[in-house]
Amino acid sequence: MRADRPESKEWWHDAVIYQVYLRSFADASDDGVGDLTGLRNRLPYLADLGVDALWLNPFYPSPGTDHGYDVADYCDVDRNLGSLTEFDRLLDEAHQRSLRLIVDLVPNHTSSSHPWFRTALESPDSPERAYYLFRPASPDGGPPNALRSVFGGPAWTLDPKSGEYYLHLFDVDQPDLDWRNPAVHARFEEILRFWLDRGVDGFRIDVAHGLYKSTQVADPGLSPDFRCWEQPEVLEVYRSWRKLAAEYGQRLLVGELFLGNYTLDRASRYVGGDGLHEAFNFLLTFAPLESWYRLIPESLSAFSAEGGTPAWVLSNHDVVRHPSRFGGGALGLRRARAASMTLLALPGSNYLYQGEELGLMQSTVSARARQDPIFKRTGGRAVGRDGCRTPIPWIPEPPGYGFTTAAPWLPFGAGAARLCVAAQDKDPSSTLSFYRGMLRLRREWLSAASDRISVIESQPPSFAFCRHRPDSGRIYCILNADTQPIATRIDRAGARLLLASADGVSIEANVVIMPPLTTAWLYTRS
Ligand code: NOJ
Repeated sequence: MRADRPESKEWWHDAVIYQVYLRSFADASDDGVGDLTGLRNRLPYLADLGVDALWLNPFYPSPGTDHGYDVADYCDVDRNLGSLTEFDRLLDEAHQRSLRLIVDLVPNHTSSSHPWFRTALESPDSPERAYYLFRPASPDGGPPNALRSVFGGPAWTLDPKSGEYYLHLFDVDQPDLDWRNPAVHARFEEILRFWLDRGVDGFRIDVAHGLYKSTQVADPGLSPDFRCWEQPEVLEVYRSWRKLAAEYGQRLLVGELFLGNYTLDRASRYVGGDGLHEAFNFLLTFAPLESWYRLIPESLSAFSAEGGTPAWVLSNHDVVRHPSRFGGGALGLRRARAASMTLLALPGSNYLYQGEELGLMQSTVSARARQDPIFKRTGGRAVGRDGCRTPIPWIPEPPGYGFTTAAPWLPFGAGAARLCVAAQDKDPSSTLSFYRGMLRLRREWLSAASDRISVIESQPPSFAFCRHRPDSGRIYCILNADTQPIATRIDRAGARLLLASADGVSIEANVVIMPPLTTAWLYTRS
């Protein structure tokens, strides 16, 4: 099984990229919301953790309806989060610590407070009007059709001044851009250059399967659940962005393709060749561990065809934290550790979400404290994503746990004092120590290993593979996804255990005895 990579190695080919959900990371201005200075102060923590790069969720000026994914100015920093000067300082200090930094690009929609949209509303004859998808009302004066927004409620909202409706596939404050208008392309090229000129190392592209909408989007009688994205025209946009990014050297373009009924075939279409370098593999994110023996090889083939890089991810700011998805409690954490160790042994980029190194679970957030527009737009029928976005506890002292001295914008999750960074820092059995050790070993043993994995025959649902090292040694990774112990035969005797996600792994000659729900990394030289 091979990750077919181009000859030259780009920095992201084996990078561990840590996602910083800025609002909940560290608050230096003491207003209850995390900020750029807070992050800069914590760079030593991230360097020490052993990650290679950071991905920052949107920090641009924004009314915050969708917590930054409603951008009012693509080329500035929200006053509550910092300033451009502070951004430059952060980038500089991150680079000094050998941490790369990628930023979030939100090209599918703007905020309704963006000057383009304001002009569009004020002057129906302005060029900006054509940046968006305004459509005539239906004959009864209602919306063009019954299309629903991803966040619940209708996808069309009336512009009372003109009597037309505008499209918003997310919140009413997130009007969709019309990518069939070449002026929109020109505006975004300027935005890309603005950040590339400042020195960012790449972009995470929000709703990368969006941008272009089906030409049927305003057809009367359209089904409310009609999926109007995944239009092939968008690939041309990524080809041009890839060329643009390449002018600046090694700059990463990673796509967020959160496809309904996700398939590898559809997601990987965007990756490799002259398209995106990577797209998050959300198939694995939601698949039970028991299916990974099949899905990992399939994923490698799909995403590394044509020189793309696989991008593994278990958690982010939109999904339930994976220890909770895996059942919660001690068992959920056990599965989570095994899962992370397996992904981190694979060729490709690994994306970690802040707090997973602390073993944070999904938090329970009361209805009163909920912030997510999904909760609001569905009248509470969908709980939304706040439970994975609660702040990072740094020290055991309530009420601010070292995150803030003010009231935090979202409450802390349960067990903040026990799970905080300070409590785990010196404890060799903590999840934090496990992550630090795992990332150090990955750098030491796996970064120089082959991009090819050789799958070792084992009993599904367990999965075992090895990667070859330049010293003619081999690194084996064995995942026992079963709730029973297993014995896996590897092709060499005398393997040394580098790390295991749980106690109880033993090696007898060339047989590795694996406890349930455990991953082990082993090394042999002979
Ligand atoms: C995906 C982002 O990750 C999510 O947080 C956001 O709400 C939507 N795209 C809309 O921008």
